[in-house]
Amino acid sequence: MNHQSFFSRRRFVTGVLSVIAVVVFNKSILAAPMPKIVAYRNSGCSCCEKWAEKLRAAGFDVEMNDDDDLSSRREKAGVPDDLAGCHTAFMGDYIIEGHAPLADILRVLNEKPSILGIAVPDMPVGSSGMEMGDMRDAYDVVAFAIDGTQSIFAKYVANP
Ligand code: CU
Ligand code: CU
Repeated sequence: MNHQSFFSRRRFVTGVLSVIAVVVFNKSILAAPMPKIVAYRNSGCSCCEKWAEKLRAAGFDVEMNDDDDLSSRREKAGVPDDLAGCHTAFMGDYIIEGHAPLADILRVLNEKPSILGIAVPDMPVGSSGMEMGDMRDAYDVVAFAIDGTQSIFAKYVANP
């Protein structure tokens, strides 16, 4: 092999590798897999299903399970008592408690905060899956950490 063909072959190989790198890189941006969400609710609660449907419409794979001992599961998972909603969901390493809006769930995925999860306590009117026309209670999405620390993740104002 003379010098010329050695270098042109090396250039060819480098070119092919960089094309592959670009394709793989773009693919990982475009098709970042949506994590599966595994949720638990009290049997028969229908607002949980509405919440799940909205996430499915956004491309999430949501598995909804009935759980007759939801409060034990919630406690074991580390959700503070005062943040309890009507369903507890697991998304990768994060917990989503209650009727948390899609935007906040996506923000958790994008920002990867060092928290255990986010919660919308109780069932405020106008939260995700709790729509009643244009009515909306004021409510907070609360972030909770593994040590129990809580902070406001997002605030939603009332719509009178
Ligand atoms: Cu509910
Ligand atoms: Cu429900």
